[in-house]
Amino acid sequence: MPADLPAAMTVIDIAEPGGPEVLKPGTRPVPRPQPGEVLIEVAAAGVNRPDMLQRQGGYAPPPGASDIPGLEVAGRVAALGDGVTDWRPGDAVCALLAGGGYAEYCAVPAAQCLPVPRGFDMVHAAAVPETFFTVWTNVFERAGLKRGESFLVHGGSSGIGTTAIQLGRAFGARVFATAGGAEKCAACAKLGAERAIDYRAEDFVAAIKEATGGAGVDVILDMVGGDYVARNLACLAVEGRLVQIAFLKGSKVELNLMPLMLKRQTLTGSTLRPRTVAQKAAIAQALKERVWPLLEAGTVGPVIHRTFPLRQAADAHRLMESGTHIGKIVLTTAAGS
Ligand SMILES: NC(=O)c1ccc[n+]([C@@H]2O[C@H](COP(=O)([O-])OP(=O)(O)OC[C@H]3O[C@@H](n4cnc5c(N)ncnc54)[C@H](OP(=O)(O)O)[C@@H]3O)[C@@H](O)[C@H]2O)c1
Repeated sequence: MPADLPAAMTVIDIAEPGGPEVLKPGTRPVPRPQPGEVLIEVAAAGVNRPDMLQRQGGYAPPPGASDIPGLEVAGRVAALGDGVTDWRPGDAVCALLAGGGYAEYCAVPAAQCLPVPRGFDMVHAAAVPETFFTVWTNVFERAGLKRGESFLVHGGSSGIGTTAIQLGRAFGARVFATAGGAEKCAACAKLGAERAIDYRAEDFVAAIKEATGGAGVDVILDMVGGDYVARNLACLAVEGRLVQIAFLKGSKVELNLMPLMLKRQTLTGSTLRPRTVAQKAAIAQALKERVWPLLEAGTVGPVIHRTFPLRQAADAHRLMESGTHIGKIVLTTAAGS
């Protein structure tokens, strides 16, 4: 380990399961990178909805992962574990983590790091990994969205949704989105949704049928679940694919599966966090080849709603839980300011 590294760092601990107030600044030893890992001096860390679940005690880190929240960071490589040849100390990277991002340093498998896209500051870079990995693997790999197909994104103004709309559009799909309220719908339209549906005022099933001449959409990305599952199947095209990444309205539903069979539809889903390093590395490689050029050209990019200093992580969670944000909320450290 380089001699100039501090022994201790500021982190955000989850004192006990509960509301945002249980997030407390604490002090921990700076982690040592294990073989195959890099140590990152964190400049900025993205806040994601799964962090709320972890704080509430409902989304434990996978075995071996840090119990500190935080699934993505950007910063500079501070030290290398044995066997790491792809990165050098001082490199500017962003990384997908299984935990540990709300901290001044974090250790992560080298293969889960990507270069900070050219032209990006650390705040924007920190806002990329979680949503871009999630959308890429679910929408393009799992659901196989193709050029010329149609794509419905629920939660269009969320961190995930803003990424999904842009990537769907950039890869040549017709994109539709749902969001709660006129302001969020306007944001979805600005990002490339051909039609943004305010689900509080309109029935999205009828709106999609109307927009697609009755055919329905080829792919749906859903985080809502509950009554949306049957409604999604009702506006999914023949051979359509519905991919679940969360169940904000519940995962237990009563469902008539007849349309699934008759229209040869696929219902699938996945979570990113428990996947192996090799699986995450494969997604990172695909992103580097297919999506990094789009980020660097400004074709797609994270939408930053607001930043908070790391110590104010509780306020960042309050904001996310208020549901008033559009896009991403990011924490910054002293190294990032
Ligand atoms: N499976 C995975 O690998 C994976 C990875 C990352 C994230 N996720 C999930 O993806 C979701 C989005 O994450 P994020 O970080 O982007 O969160 P976020 O920005 O807080 O977005 C949450 C979204 O959910 C919508 N929403 C909440 N309750 C709803 C309801 N009852 N009906 C309809 N929409 C509702 C909100 O939009 P409105 O205000 O328009 O309702 C909001 O846009 C989360 O559920 C998260 O757990 C899954």
